[in-house]
Amino acid sequence: EKQSSQKLDKLIMHVDPNARMTESELSGFLKLYGRYMKERSSKTEIDWNLIKQPDTSILRPYSELPEVGEDAVGVLSKLAVLKLNGGLGTSMGCTGPKSVIEVRGDTTFLDLTVQQIETLNNKYPKANVPLLLMNSFSTDEDTAKIIEKYTDTNVSISTFQQSRYPRILKDTFEPCANPDTAYNSGDWYPPGHGDVFAALMNSGLIDTLIAQGKEYVFVSNVDNLGATVDANILSLLIQEKVDYCMELTDKTRADIKGGTLISYDGKVKLLEVAQVPSKYLDEFKSVKKFKVFNTNNIWVNLKSLKNRFESLELDIIPNPKTVGGKKVLQLETAIGAAMSFFENPIGVNVPRSRFLPVKTTSDLLLVQSNLYTMKSGSLVTNPARQFASVPVIKLGPEFKKVGSYLERFGSTPDVLELDHLTVSGDVAFGSSVSLKGTVIIVANPGSKIMIPKGAVLENKVITGNLHI
Ligand code: UTP
Repeated sequence: EKQSSQKLDKLIMHVDPNARMTESELSGFLKLYGRYMKERSSKTEIDWNLIKQPDTSILRPYSELPEVGEDAVGVLSKLAVLKLNGGLGTSMGCTGPKSVIEVRGDTTFLDLTVQQIETLNNKYPKANVPLLLMNSFSTDEDTAKIIEKYTDTNVSISTFQQSRYPRILKDTFEPCANPDTAYNSGDWYPPGHGDVFAALMNSGLIDTLIAQGKEYVFVSNVDNLGATVDANILSLLIQEKVDYCMELTDKTRADIKGGTLISYDGKVKLLEVAQVPSKYLDEFKSVKKFKVFNTNNIWVNLKSLKNRFESLELDIIPNPKTVGGKKVLQLETAIGAAMSFFENPIGVNVPRSRFLPVKTTSDLLLVQSNLYTMKSGSLVTNPARQFASVPVIKLGPEFKKVGSYLERFGSTPDVLELDHLTVSGDVAFGSSVSLKGTVIIVANPGSKIMIPKGAVLENKVITGNLHI
């Protein structure tokens, strides 16, 4: 404990003159690291016996929500939409904000979001739903340029910046940043999407919204194309004075990592995999016991947030990294962890269509394909698809970057009747290829497989260095 407090003293001493942070940033940063040092020495494990499965009063089935109908404009006028836009597209080989990746033709994530809200505002002019973008220091400048093109749309767009914290050297607990460090260098990091609460408060945006009569903010990942405004959910929250709502969807075997909703010691809580004692990990991952997982679509009452902001002590996610050969630590928080700090939180068990994230080019293939049609900025499952499930697509590392993925497909293949596609090695597709059932294509090292234009592959395994 003594060592912890010495380390913390050192951190405070070094960070202050060096950091070039705003006052609120600095205080948030010191609070987070102070909590981390304290909790590290007195961490209590979750008591597995206190966990109860959520009943339908805590986890509401979406299909049972009352329909809003005529009142939609009334409820929508109380809403602001917020997209988490702090992340870069690096995992898909893109520089710049992830939100500018083209997902449907030349339409980007941001374009789709703006189209969705514009459609809403055209239909209900009095609702005037604003769009807020939470940027990080690495996305702010680019985003400011990009949103100029929306000036003539019927959507008022505000951007605000989340906190920028210095990375800490793991061994000495000193900040990496020094007065000569560039503002956006690798010595700094954005502390996770749990920072959205501090960013709303510190920017003063929360007061502006409340003054405009907005009561709820709907927060989601900018890459979740299924996270559209839902007036039925909003109406329920208003009616029942719910102050925090998390959308969860049914888990499949592919989603075992996501956090799940539990009732714990009488409180509604999100249980994350990192909190699970190792002997219960298999149980946590089981689809039977923990049936739903967090989509990160979150609705929060603004006044409630303002009242309890100071008491939010979100679980800390330590993220150790090696940056420029140095072992560093960055502490982060997640928005879902806030649930148990609110008075009347609920989960809603939503259909899978509200969770359509694009994390990889395999996801990108799906959303670009004929599995979906577009309606006012929203993707709608093509009614011609015969099965309820979406195809499982696994593209190899050669397809990881958006650029190489696009080069390797002459055009997006027809996947309407596809169940499973695995592609590995140096494989390329001509245009207008049709994939059906289970298709596996494996090019051996040193060889290349070219699927010709117009080919129809149904339940096929292609291996070796075949040119078909
Ligand atoms: P993540 O990188 O956390 O994606 O960003 P993930 O792997 O799906 O993680 P979880 O499970 O949702 O936590 C999710 C969204 O949060 C934004 C990203 O831009 C993305 O839209 N984000 C993340 C921020 O805005 N700031 C951050 O500090 C971190």
